[in-house]
Amino acid sequence: MNNIYHRYLKLPFEYPKPDHLLVKPKTSYNSCVHLKDVLPEFVSWVESYGCKLSNVIEIFHTPASGGSVPIHTDSGNKPGVFDCAKINFTWGPEDSVTRWWTVTDEKKLIKIINPKNSQTNDDFQQKGIMPDIPTNANHIAKVTDVTLAHEIVVNRPTLFNAGQLHSTFNANPTQDRWTLSFVPLALDGEMISFPQALEIFKDCIE
Ligand SMILES: [Fe+2]
Repeated sequence: MNNIYHRYLKLPFEYPKPDHLLVKPKTSYNSCVHLKDVLPEFVSWVESYGCKLSNVIEIFHTPASGGSVPIHTDSGNKPGVFDCAKINFTWGPEDSVTRWWTVTDEKKLIKIINPKNSQTNDDFQQKGIMPDIPTNANHIAKVTDVTLAHEIVVNRPTLFNAGQLHSTFNANPTQDRWTLSFVPLALDGEMISFPQALEIFKDCIE
């Protein structure tokens, strides 16, 4: 299979689980953190590749006992049209997974417009963060309209294709799963596609 979905990253530092930041979202499955709270070694590492971090830094929580983040993309573009790259750090049990999906018929893709005060954007507003990348649209699809394309246990840093449909599932009876998700940007603020990210970060790809 041509893996267009993810790569594990071998990084020269460890990102300790930031327990003080991992607060359960009140209204949705995501919340966010400030750039100032990001591990300085990670910020420097991104900068060493001629990139910078977006201030859109999300926390995804997948609760124990069958919790899930539903099938979605992170982008207003259709899958395959400039798929956006993210760098994710996940702390969770070995029986929790990330899945990518392919829609059986493109007409079944559902575009979601997220107004500024939507659940998706609520926490940015509350924390006084003005997103420096578009957060106003993404796509979802029903589980009956997709087929499973790829599934992994995310137990190390990952270069992540967030432009393809994806979801999480946590089968563990007691342990929650947490992800900190970052968007690397070019220095001019432009987003980086997954294929571009493969090239930029190639010496850290396992
Ligand atoms: Fe996502």
